[in-house]
Amino acid sequence: MPAVMSADALKRAVAEAAIAYVQPGEILGVGTGSTANAFIDALASIKGRVRAAVASSEATRKRLEAIGIEVVDLNQVDRISIYVDGADEITPALAMIKGGGGALTREKIVAALADKFICIADASKWVTTLGTFPLPIEVIPMARSMIARELVRMGGSPVYRTGFVTDNGNVILDTYGLHISDPVALEQRLNNLTGVVTNGLFAARPADILLLGSAEGVQTHH
Ligand code: 5RP
Repeated sequence: MPAVMSADALKRAVAEAAIAYVQPGEILGVGTGSTANAFIDALASIKGRVRAAVASSEATRKRLEAIGIEVVDLNQVDRISIYVDGADEITPALAMIKGGGGALTREKIVAALADKFICIADASKWVTTLGTFPLPIEVIPMARSMIARELVRMGGSPVYRTGFVTDNGNVILDTYGLHISDPVALEQRLNNLTGVVTNGLFAARPADILLLGSAEGVQTHH
């Protein structure tokens, strides 16, 4: 019988598996959150092979710099080989909900420039349908109530993430109860609401590779 592994051990296992995808001399993108932090810890042992990184948050930038990896601005870069990040939920089609850590906008921007999005996640994140995890939606502060009313009209229950301001100076509505049968369509519909900066559906550009950790080991999904 496989041994029970803690969530932290699973995060370390998928983070170490992602190291195999790091191409020597290339610039890579790095996500935000506890699983991405495990990846940064794993990167420390091969940092000589990493030319530079683009960070998806201020927190990630600080962690990368602390281990001696140069962090460059996205405007200085025209290509990123891989983007490695966690997820709050991920489906067999590799569509995700992200933004539990509030970094969704920069994550989506850095992922958009990457040749390959490699998602690293423990098995608790694997779902057949997205939406049990409340969907984070970053909004311009003055549009908060207007967007919240629209989300209610769409069948959602938005909760203002109090005391939290994103790296971009905006606020987050964590939205429960949305029916996410078509993640690509919902991602586009939410993007079209004036005042929404980014929503946490990563479906139009899903992950390319998922490294999923469970007690049986790390499985690779394409
Ligand atoms: C941050 C994110 C994270 O990837 C997501 O919240 C998963 O975090 P963790 O690895 O801590 O479970 O999207 O904005």
